[in-house]
Amino acid sequence: MKKIAFVFVFSLLLHNLSFAQNAKRDQFVASLIKKMTIDEKLGQLNLLVGGEATTGSVVSSNVESKLKAGKVGGIFSLSSPEKTRKAQELALQSRLKIPAIFGMDVIHGYRTMFPIPLGMSATWDMDLIEKSARMAAQEATADGIFWTFSPMVDICRDPRWGRASEGSGEDVFLGSKIAAAMVKGYQGKNLADKNTMLACVKHFALYGAAEGGRDYNTTDMSRVRMYNEYLPPYKAALDAGAGSIMASFNEIDGIPATANKWLLTDLLRKEWGFKGFVVTDYTGNNEMIDHGIGDLQTVTAKALRAGSDMDMVGEGFLNTLKKSLVEEKVTQAEIDRAVRLILNAKYDLGLFEDPFRYCDENRAKTEIYNDETRAFSREVATKSFVLLKNKNNVLPLNTSQKIAVVGPLINNKENMAGTWSVSETRTNSITLMEGLRNALGEKIEILQARGANIYSDPVMDANAAMFGKTTGRDNRSDEELLFEAVRVAKDADVIVAALGESAEMSGESSSRSQIDIPENQRNLLKALVKTGKPVVLVLFTGRPLVLTWENENVDAILNVWFAGTEAGNAIADALYGKVNPSGKLSMSFPRNEGQIPVYYNHKNTGRPHSGKPGYEKFRSNYLDVTNEPLFPFGYGLSYTTFEYGDIKLDKTSMTESQQIKVSVEVKNTGSYDGEEVVQLYIRDKVGTNTRPVKELKDFKKVLIKKGESTTVEFTVRLDNLKYYTNELQYIAEKGVFEAMIGGDSDKVKKAEFVLK
Ligand code: BGC
Repeated sequence: MKKIAFVFVFSLLLHNLSFAQNAKRDQFVASLIKKMTIDEKLGQLNLLVGGEATTGSVVSSNVESKLKAGKVGGIFSLSSPEKTRKAQELALQSRLKIPAIFGMDVIHGYRTMFPIPLGMSATWDMDLIEKSARMAAQEATADGIFWTFSPMVDICRDPRWGRASEGSGEDVFLGSKIAAAMVKGYQGKNLADKNTMLACVKHFALYGAAEGGRDYNTTDMSRVRMYNEYLPPYKAALDAGAGSIMASFNEIDGIPATANKWLLTDLLRKEWGFKGFVVTDYTGNNEMIDHGIGDLQTVTAKALRAGSDMDMVGEGFLNTLKKSLVEEKVTQAEIDRAVRLILNAKYDLGLFEDPFRYCDENRAKTEIYNDETRAFSREVATKSFVLLKNKNNVLPLNTSQKIAVVGPLINNKENMAGTWSVSETRTNSITLMEGLRNALGEKIEILQARGANIYSDPVMDANAAMFGKTTGRDNRSDEELLFEAVRVAKDADVIVAALGESAEMSGESSSRSQIDIPENQRNLLKALVKTGKPVVLVLFTGRPLVLTWENENVDAILNVWFAGTEAGNAIADALYGKVNPSGKLSMSFPRNEGQIPVYYNHKNTGRPHSGKPGYEKFRSNYLDVTNEPLFPFGYGLSYTTFEYGDIKLDKTSMTESQQIKVSVEVKNTGSYDGEEVVQLYIRDKVGTNTRPVKELKDFKKVLIKKGESTTVEFTVRLDNLKYYTNELQYIAEKGVFEAMIGGDSDKVKKAEFVLK
């Protein structure tokens, strides 16, 4: 009781303190706004790109003179304390000396790269994910950057979309947890601390639901689906305190997000109470001309009125809002709102107190890319790997086996970190060959051959090598490359075929209609399998791929995504059993492209397939492929095996104020210690709305020593049973529910309970 009273008083104190701080800030900002001319105000809404990384055709010009003239609110992609100091000095030459904000796409690490976000999500480890964001913030702020365009929390059920690599997969519960963990990691306890940075949640909203998986394409969905399946991760990130949010490129209900008042004002501000600022995506404002909703002045006015505050790169706000104000197309209050929210963020970041607080050359020397960050990168990389197949326990390898390592990326530093690694130093990356050499030492022979290019077609190969991340194309013919690899492999005891995608085959504007391993690489794999030697496929990929042939024909598949700076060392750790893989998929792997979208939490339909083998007439299924994906959500093997006991419930019914404890015993029945992600799913068996066949509601990652077992317990609360109805009421309905626990979304133990 005493403790509760203490916590209550303490949180009241904290609340009052932050109230007082906010009041002080509001007063400061209000008096500053009073002094500002209209041009100075519009300057604050202007975000320019500093040079190094651009994702559109427009690049900012005359940045220096604009800074001095007070026409820039912030700059992104300018790094190093020297450069940001210089830019800040220019900003401070403006009449009101308002400091600029410096941002960057710090997506999965800063200089020390971690696995791509889809890989990070496969760790299902929130502490690790939070720590990765913390460490990225530590490095970025030491290099002059204190605003990141991350986390990307767009739910994606379509692996054709290249940006699946940047998110946390298909599930709303896991996605929401990760969104919150990332924000906490970046922003820490206090935004004004020197090593914390402002998070920017993106892309608001529904960007991952682009039709056909084609980037920037139209989205269209019901409100019920939005509220239940797509919006919660954005909300979770904001609830965790994210101070900014980015409008997405796509339209929603026929209006681009950037100018969508329902989205940016009614939902975001009124319903959710968001107090931070909205930035457009890269020229997102100007692109509304091509969307077809008006000329630059019109779309800009619409964007501001809808709730966009800062204009990324396009300069429409800077150049047209003054005219719109005169013509009464926007109001002074709307402009002041945007200015106020941006100045608030600058105040919270401590910039008015010390504009150079993130320009510390000494920090840059010691806090970026050091032993600690590298060790962490290696650890997190190993935890992101997903073991998809391991026939006859071909993995882990042992050092007495002679290995042949084959594939286009085995010696390629540029492709280890994956997409969105704009701030990496590419030469730092450890390749697969380097990692294996480090693990095996100089004395053990390692056979190697390239075997194939990423693509046979040079044009496709060039498309797969954006941002100067060359694929190291070998100009020999496919046959010559393959022949050499087979000859080399014949001398080995086991073949490690490292195949798949190059780093830039996923990420922005890298949609694919066929998501398999390119044909020439598959031909190589077929030839390697034909040698009769055991073949381990080490899969580089930024998205779920179609691996139906591979799953039938190779012995083991270790999916290593793009694992970051320490990729090669981490892969060697996993291949030789120094670590036991524990990653679980956060996105289903389809059997073929025709199954897309395939996701675990689908509806039952009125004509569900019975689940027995084979096609069923007049049931919801295909003639030529089953409904189930090749590898389901939550799936991933280990070098050991886990056996699940039956589900136990402490009671079989609950009232609204009660809860049920659901538990299961998990036994490690193999011969290695291992970590297992135990997953709890719930099905609402009868609802006013139709309900998914199952939904993830909780999970726990546990380490179980070989031969030992542990009981994993979850608590089912009313909140786990709620959903948004047609009227968008968030309710739990009385009736029968099913609890399911398992090591993936498919193989589960079940038990029913009732909400009374
Ligand atoms: C992307 C954003 C990114 C921005 C700035 C855009 O093209 O959609 O995710 O933050 O560029 O680099």
